[in-house]
Amino acid sequence: MSTTLKHDIADASLAPLGRQRIEWADRDMPVLTSIRERFERERPLEGLRISACLHVTSETANLMRTLQAGGADAALCASNPLSTQDDVAASLVNDFEIPVFAIKGEDDDTYYSHITAAIDHAPHITMDDGADVIGVLHGDRREMIDGVIGGTEETTTGVIRLRALEAEGGLAFPVVSVNDADTKHFFDNRYGTGQSTLDGLLRATNILIAGRVAVVGGYGWCGRGLANRLRGMGANVVVIEVDPLRALEAVMDGYSVMPIAEAAKVGDIFITATGDINVIRKEHFAVMKDGAIVANTGHFNVEIDIPALSDLADGEREVRPMVQEYTLGDGRKIHLLAEGRLLNLASAEGHPASVMDMSFANQALSAEFIAKNGGDLENRVYEVPKDIDEEIARLKLETLGVQIDELTEEQRRYLASWDQGT
Ligand code: ADE
Repeated sequence: MSTTLKHDIADASLAPLGRQRIEWADRDMPVLTSIRERFERERPLEGLRISACLHVTSETANLMRTLQAGGADAALCASNPLSTQDDVAASLVNDFEIPVFAIKGEDDDTYYSHITAAIDHAPHITMDDGADVIGVLHGDRREMIDGVIGGTEETTTGVIRLRALEAEGGLAFPVVSVNDADTKHFFDNRYGTGQSTLDGLLRATNILIAGRVAVVGGYGWCGRGLANRLRGMGANVVVIEVDPLRALEAVMDGYSVMPIAEAAKVGDIFITATGDINVIRKEHFAVMKDGAIVANTGHFNVEIDIPALSDLADGEREVRPMVQEYTLGDGRKIHLLAEGRLLNLASAEGHPASVMDMSFANQALSAEFIAKNGGDLENRVYEVPKDIDEEIARLKLETLGVQIDELTEEQRRYLASWDQGT
């Protein structure tokens, strides 16, 4: 594929459906809408090129519209081979004239050629979900780095990669860690992942959750949300962890906590959300129950050792869309969902718009922050400024029709004092 293509999408005729879904999502994104309206008036991104590498969903489309309203010339590629909504990609190209390089189910070569195409857009600002654009820019495409004033990063896994690059002294421009905003990870990672992962599990399998033993890998914000929602549906939830503090929290939240070697024997459903590799390995498949379901909702498809599962199996076949059945030597069957890729986006539609509203408000305002301050920043990972985070929380509450109290003058003084006790 030529990297100079204006766009590369599956099917332009899907645009009308995509547009409907973009507009449906927009109804639930009032914070982003208010930013878009201000951006239209103030044009804070005028003249800036943005290369975004995000899940191509109806919610992302509304972010792209917002960047465009701010004056940006934005291009979009997929941040995962299985998460693209082809109708949305078509509408972005046809209705909004945004170059998109993304096809659901693309192979790895196409995936990376699409990232290259987005980099060919010569960005002033990069916008990543998983740090793939920054990864390629710092590898094969270093000649494009000089034009970049800064970047943003959406997800935990991407931030981990960026901090590793920063620690090596290799980060070549400032990046804002959107994931670290409270209005992002408290809500998107917890309630978004909790709900959308269950959505993916149900769409793929249509199983009853009640009464099953569900093993959740990792008790970070995503794992917490997922465990909570699985419990709400009647599962007996087991948490596996490596961090003693998080494990303790899971215990006090009322979950069973045990090593994966033990959990492997009792689980009916396994879902990883750790951000690390080979959490579920050969020795664990070897002791799983017949019919066990194994899935991942972390960013990369590395949490389940799929080659080991293939090695153990005598045969494999697709038994439903997104469900691959592996038959082991002794006749037991293990079902892998969505090729071990993030279940919520591969088999469902990702997080609902209402929660992406806050995540993408953070993205839009962080892009504006970089446009205004990029030249003064160092080449390191920055948190989203506190005033942006608080403004998003305030706006979200307002759109939900929720009012809260303000400190009285007396309370303010009390909090600022050290000599007032009982
Ligand atoms: N990540 C999780 N859910 C998402 C969505 N709906 N759109 C874009 N990125 C996401």
